[in-house]
Amino acid sequence: MPDETRWPTTPPQGRIAYVNGRYLPHAQAGVHIEDRGLQFGDSIYEVVAVVSGTLRDEDEHLDRLERSLREIRLTMPVSRAALKLIFRQIARRNRLHNGLIYLQVTRGAFRRDHPIPATKAKPTLILTARKIDTASAARNKANGIAIVTTADERWARCDIKTTQLLANLLAKTDARKQGAYEAWLIDREGFITEGSSTNAWIVTGEGELITRALSHAVLPGVTRRVILEAAAAHQLKIVERSFTPDEARTAREAFISSATGAAVPVIAIDGVPIGNGAPGPITLNVHQIYEDWAKTHAEKPVLRA
Ligand code: PDD
Repeated sequence: MPDETRWPTTPPQGRIAYVNGRYLPHAQAGVHIEDRGLQFGDSIYEVVAVVSGTLRDEDEHLDRLERSLREIRLTMPVSRAALKLIFRQIARRNRLHNGLIYLQVTRGAFRRDHPIPATKAKPTLILTARKIDTASAARNKANGIAIVTTADERWARCDIKTTQLLANLLAKTDARKQGAYEAWLIDREGFITEGSSTNAWIVTGEGELITRALSHAVLPGVTRRVILEAAAAHQLKIVERSFTPDEARTAREAFISSATGAAVPVIAIDGVPIGNGAPGPITLNVHQIYEDWAKTHAEKPVLRA
């Protein structure tokens, strides 16, 4: 993998971005300095995985995009059909067999002023694509990951997928400094909401899958929803309820879910091994169920093999 953390010093070769109707080399793509996404975080985003050339859960991501935009009083910058074409173009132009497509919609560029402008400027639409390191994803699935818990310091509408991610970034960075992959966030009542960029799950001694019920406190994860649907079809026991770090640390198994990895096993929380400290069979089963579901529901590949 190229070292993309050093970008823009070493711009990734051959990557193409989409900005407001134009496909441009990644290093030359940009937005106006007065863009409200940059100045205020006045913007929404989505992340869609491409697996073996196929877009994963595309309609579910577009449904959530429409909802997020509605919640911040923004309309879709282009039609849903046009967006689907742009997804396919960006995948093709980046030769994205396995990777992630990132999409941001901002309110656009205006003279800096807090109130949402009454005049309709053109929203900014950005799409970028990135190949994923399939080896490191496979390692996480095989070996499991460590989690640390920390206070949830985000705003009160975490159900909207905005680009205001500072609290998430700080939590994730602290987790990585402690050698953990992800941070699970604890609300003021002492319950885990979700991870900094993933949904949080535990498995009880009775084999029930537990994840927090949807509310303003968590992002309605697309992968979460698909797992719930697929697991229910396989007669797995599911309870959507809150759980504490104590319950998580003594759970039989735990895992995280997101577009970047469905059901990634958690083997330690705050240094305490979960189960026998190795990926658990129920988690691996959920992973397989999700993969099978995704394959059966996949549309035709956007790339030729
Ligand atoms: N994150 N919770 C949070 C706070 C998230 O940011 C994400 C996704 C999820 C999982 O949602 P989904 O299954 O729809 O990906 C839950 C993306 C991947 C990101 O920020 O990169």
